This record gives sequence, C-alpha cells and structure tokens, in this order.
Amino acid sequence: MARAQNEHIAFGNGPHVCLGQHIARIEIDAMLVEVLSRMEEVERTAPPEWLASNFISGPRTMPVRFRAGPRVGVR
Ligand code: HEM
Repeated sequence: MARAQNEHIAFGNGPHVCLGQHIARIEIDAMLVEVLSRMEEVERTAPPEWLASNFISGPRTMPVRFRAGPRVGVR
C-alpha cells in the first residue's frame, strides 16, 4: 500500500463538517458507476482481511486486480 497510515475521518463532524459532502457523494457515485461498469476479469490478489469491530462488519482490505473493458450495464 502506497498511502501512509492516516486515520480515516470521512467528511468530519460537528461545526466543521464538510460543506462539500453532498456534491462529493454525487461525484463518488459517478466515479464508481464509470469504473465498475468497465471492470473485467476481476480477481483477488490476496486473501481479504476482516475488520475487527463490534459495530461495522466488512473487509478491511481486499486487494484485487482487473482489466478495463467496454462499458456495460450502466443505468
Ligand atoms: C471526497 C471528497 C471530500 C472529503 C473526503 C472531504 C473531507 C472533509 C473533512 C474531513 C472536513 C472537515 C475538516 C475539519 O474537521 O476541520 C472537510 C471540510 C470542508 N470541506 Fe470537504 N471533503 C471533500 C470534498 C469537498 C468538496 C467537493 C467541497 C466543496 C465543494 C468541500 C468543502 C469543504 C469545506 C468548505 C470544509 C470546511 C467546513 C468548515 O470548516 O466549516 N469538501 N472536508
């Protein structure tokens, strides 16, 4: 992983919560639609690591590789 270990705070909270979070969510949705609709030959490159938490269930890491293909199944 190329990123430094930095704490994830999403859009923050309290008086300085991110004012751009609504447009940012729309942009993230548009980006995921474009990327996911072109992913082909998706394969895991390492076993997923599960998040150790009583509140959130899901993988903490799940490295994959894929090939970019033609756009399919876009709404
Ligand atoms: C994925 C995209 C983004 C992330 C993860 C993000 C994250 C954050 C976080 C964590 C804070 C709080 C910082 C703190 O507590 O001091 C913040 C503040 C802020 N963000 Fe974003 N942001 C994103 C996109 C945007 C966009 C697109 C805009 C504007 C169009 C924006 C405008 C602002 C502003 C103005 C604040 C300051 C709010 C204040 O201090 O009252 N952000 N953002």
